[in-house]
Amino acid sequence: MGVFGLTCAMVTWHVGQVSISAPPDHADDRLLRANPERFGVRIVDDRIFVENVDVAAIAEAVDTPCYVYGAAFVRSQFRGLREALAGRPALICYAVKANSSQAILRLLAGEGAGADIVSGGELERALAAGFAPRVIVFSGVGKRDEEIDAAIDADIRAIHAESIEELERIAARARARGTVARVALRVNPDIDPDTHPYLATGLRETKFGIAMRDALAVADRVIAEPALRLVGLACHIGSQIMDAAPFLAALGRVRELIAALQERTELQYIDLGGGLGIPYGVDEPRVDVKTFGAELVRALADLDLELVLEPGRYLVGNAGVLLTRVVNGKESGGKSFVIVDAAMNDLIRPALYEAYHAIVPATLPSAETPRIRADVVGPVCECGDFFARDREMAPPASGELLVVLSAGAYGMTMASNYNSRPLAPEVLVGGDAFAVTRPRRSVAELIAEEVLPAWLVNGG
Ligand code: LLP
Repeated sequence: MGVFGLTCAMVTWHVGQVSISAPPDHADDRLLRANPERFGVRIVDDRIFVENVDVAAIAEAVDTPCYVYGAAFVRSQFRGLREALAGRPALICYAVKANSSQAILRLLAGEGAGADIVSGGELERALAAGFAPRVIVFSGVGKRDEEIDAAIDADIRAIHAESIEELERIAARARARGTVARVALRVNPDIDPDTHPYLATGLRETKFGIAMRDALAVADRVIAEPALRLVGLACHIGSQIMDAAPFLAALGRVRELIAALQERTELQYIDLGGGLGIPYGVDEPRVDVKTFGAELVRALADLDLELVLEPGRYLVGNAGVLLTRVVNGKESGGKSFVIVDAAMNDLIRPALYEAYHAIVPATLPSAETPRIRADVVGPVCECGDFFARDREMAPPASGELLVVLSAGAYGMTMASNYNSRPLAPEVLVGGDAFAVTRPRRSVAELIAEEVLPAWLVNGG
């Protein structure tokens, strides 16, 4: 019996040698029906829509794999967070690394967001998209001199320094340019946010931030340095955090430091970083943003400082899907595989973090459709090239369109050309309309970027 030719009854299937009992109600598509709006999609006559556009029409127009983002969802995430923080001065600096497409950046700049950047490249992107320099903060553990120069020249809000060594370099660059660089100290509050080890950046033993015990001495050095001006204190504890508690814990850890700094200098803001999480599994809850905001506002009530947050994933993660078509099914080693035309080069999160992404057919199966358990894998020559393992799903046909959910953050920005697979196109939906915001690259373009040395071409 093949993956695509199931004949057996409801709950137990015999796939190759293996008999698998599937819980009857845990398929992503069944669960999605309950809460499609959490994932930025609508279900219209069993078909998946982003806003008013049928994803099948997009796949038809631009082919697969392809990323599709919904503008309204990004806007509503941003507005929801901003409203939750109403009542206190706050700047939401979108973490550009999550999705740096010009269309998304422009949309968020238009909403009044700031930008959190981590490279000279992101600085250029943010400026090109229309972010005012004064709402751009520059984080990152290894800024090159050229990147520091560019940030100083652009006159951004502040460079978030991660060590005394980096501060000395920033001071030297500012001095050489005859100017004063605004900086914030990124401290490491040593908080465990209970997330994937790769995503927990606020622990003492990570490479991030200035150790709390050194922070005051570092601040004194900054205050004494005429080429630097200390304007803020920043921390970022990690990603995929579902409530305010770890943020409040981090705030608790830095409170004494804030008080000490305020005695010494005119501090303008406290930046509590990014890290607000999103649902990936279709039965996972959303962050209760109203409560999150209210708790933050309450905890900060006695502090005369602007609050800066750096959310990335929260704003765009559920706004995006990755469309992919089934190449064919395959049974091997007692397992069923669904081979799709997207791969780890397009979306590396499952390979890198064993991250869960819900996957549904673009036309949802009926409740009675039998399910199988299968690995959804790409064509790349790596065992890590998978999107799902032992996933309960309706057996898809060759050519069928699948929708990988929650792919708006850290999808395209982490994509590569591995296996000479050109980057996927990106599409932005707004109401009834959709636009290709980044066309599919061609292999010819990839080859054309390269230069052959004359001595190799002419023979040696
Ligand atoms: N601010 C700083 C200093 C950060 O390092 C990060 C993320 C953010 C803000 C935004 O975090 P978010 O709100 O998006 O969680 N590639 C991983 C995520 C790496 C996040 C790194 N830093 C993933 O795919 O899950």
